[in-house]
Amino acid sequence: MRVCAYLRQHNLFKYFLFPVATIILWHYRDKYGIDIPSSTTIGTGLYIGHFGEIIVHPNTIIGDNFTIGQGVTIGVAFNPERMGTPTIGDNVYIGPGAKVFGKITIGNNVQVGANCVVTKDIPDNAVVVGVPGRIIKYRGSENYSVDRQL
Ligand SMILES: CC(C)(COP(=O)(O)OP(=O)(O)OC[C@H]1O[C@@H](n2cnc3c(N)ncnc32)[C@H](O)[C@@H]1OP(=O)(O)O)[C@@H](O)C(=O)NCCC(=O)NCCS
Repeated sequence: MRVCAYLRQHNLFKYFLFPVATIILWHYRDKYGIDIPSSTTIGTGLYIGHFGEIIVHPNTIIGDNFTIGQGVTIGVAFNPERMGTPTIGDNVYIGPGAKVFGKITIGNNVQVGANCVVTKDIPDNAVVVGVPGRIIKYRGSENYSVDRQL
């Protein structure tokens, strides 16, 4: 994914190596069940703990030190009021099975609990669980998100 993103940005590689890298990326997408397009904006320190059924919309914007569990979907909402895709801050943890969609903002240091469904903005440091997602505390994502810049 990172290689594809790099190749797409450089005219020298865009028309030859990028298509080849994209085919390899598609192969890994199908093999591991992780569909994160190379056009997705993701900061450094991405961590995918387990394989399987991870789907991220290409227009999603994600910050640094993002941790994503298996079975997570981050996608578009079709509700006209929130049509669009999420913007996710730094040091965010999204637990297994969670779904996050719509033109919403997830703040920095947020924890999204397992199987949670988030369709509204979440402020910095919040821990959100359940369906629909509700904030249960403001503890930040310590212990769940690792600073991988160190
Ligand atoms: C969201 C999460 C981080 C919160 O952890 P926590 O701060 O320790 O929360 P607590 O265990 O103190 O629970 C607080 C309340 O929220 C509820 N709760 C916690 N996680 C929940 C979840 N995912 N869905 C619904 N409710 C949840 C608890 O039942 C408790 O409710 P109560 O106050 O009525 O008793 C955690 O529950 C979670 O989902 N972790 C994911 C773990 C994980 O991904 N492991 C790796 C798997 S590969």
